[in-house]
Amino acid sequence: MTATSQRSKTATKSKRKKGSGFEPRIVAFCCNWCSYAGADLAGTSRLQMPPNVRIIRVNCTGRIDPSFILDALNQGADGVLISGCHPGDCHYSTGNLKMRARFALLQKMVEAAGIEPDRIRLQWASAAEGDVFTEGVKIMVETVKKLGPNPAGIGE
Ligand code: FES
Repeated sequence: MTATSQRSKTATKSKRKKGSGFEPRIVAFCCNWCSYAGADLAGTSRLQMPPNVRIIRVNCTGRIDPSFILDALNQGADGVLISGCHPGDCHYSTGNLKMRARFALLQKMVEAAGIEPDRIRLQWASAAEGDVFTEGVKIMVETVKKLGPNPAGIGE
């Protein structure tokens, strides 16, 4: 390993420590019909959003298997946001209601795995609520910044 790559690796690691320089990696699973469109609206409206979030589009929050969340946390995400249509607005009728029921269980599973349950968040946001989606991301980033890097993640 060269001195330059060693310095670069050390610099990267220092950003992964809890503190003012820590920038969490947030994975957001967004339903295609509401939240993904809301995130898109936030972008076209030029709303300020933390750059920490990586969005994965799914057809419906009901499609999100709990293993997706656990895999994201195990593979380096510091937090996971799940965002979908408001209850009553799901394009597949009850997918979001199933996700809501699953989420309570998911929090217990995450905690049992030694991960703080606050590292996962469920946020409803319609296609017209770019501001709500943005606010959810900001809350998530601030919450995870306080928690520090995910101890269960594989790191760099
Ligand atoms: S289609 Fe959006 S949560 Fe089901």
